[in-house]
Amino acid sequence: MKKKIVVLSGAGMSADSGLRTFRDADGLWEGHDVMEVASPQGFRSNPELVLGFYNQRRRQLLKAQPNAGHKALAALEDFYEVHIVTQNVDDLHERAGSSEVLHLHGELFKVRSTAPPYPVYEWKKDLVLGNLCAQGHQLRPHIVWFGEEVPLLPEAASITSLADILIVIGTSLQVYPAASLLYYARHGTTVYFIDPKPTIDQLPNYELHLIAKKASEGVPLLVSELLTSSQ
Ligand code: APR
Repeated sequence: MKKKIVVLSGAGMSADSGLRTFRDADGLWEGHDVMEVASPQGFRSNPELVLGFYNQRRRQLLKAQPNAGHKALAALEDFYEVHIVTQNVDDLHERAGSSEVLHLHGELFKVRSTAPPYPVYEWKKDLVLGNLCAQGHQLRPHIVWFGEEVPLLPEAASITSLADILIVIGTSLQVYPAASLLYYARHGTTVYFIDPKPTIDQLPNYELHLIAKKASEGVPLLVSELLTSSQ
């Protein structure tokens, strides 16, 4: 039986594909206060700004490509059962070929209605005020904003609890509940943490291995080690 690898990825995973992380030195996300563009209050007070912001992100994602890190994770599936739980709203894991990807914070290429039963639609173009669902209600990005429920959290926690090996990549572990997910892994599980500036250096109850490298370098290195040891 194949061993189970669970990957928890954050914004750093896609940084080498040209998508900016959230907590850069200036504390802004592409020039915006995060609460202004990623909260229900922000959407209520200036929906045009928020829709425009996500239109920019969507256009940027259409041009971005998976990096060597995304591709290496897809290659792991030859010898392991791999589940990816990502905080990222991009589709770069899927485009690299990973088959099991759970998007904890939603997906940029989907939109949903602002009214029950909140139907979700595939969406790759700009979204503007006046774009309505089939029942006639305004559509919004299918993104989990600050202060909103994280509907896939229980599923992500149960996937993580089955890991034989956990790989955490490119996340500051500042945003809850996502940051708490790794603690659902069984005590004693081997945890690899790949991040040029890892925010933790110890993890009681786990066997932590820090790889202080960028995702496009650190992930292929680890994957080739794991592929060798699986044979
Ligand atoms: N390779 C790997 N990691 C990198 C790279 C890189 N090339 N560049 C930066 N990093 C690391 C940083 O050192 C940092 O630890 O990526 C991490 C990015 O952290 P954040 O910007 O806080 O991103 P993340 O943890 O994914 O944020 C979580 O915050 O705004 C919300 O919902 C949004 O999902 C997001 C959540």
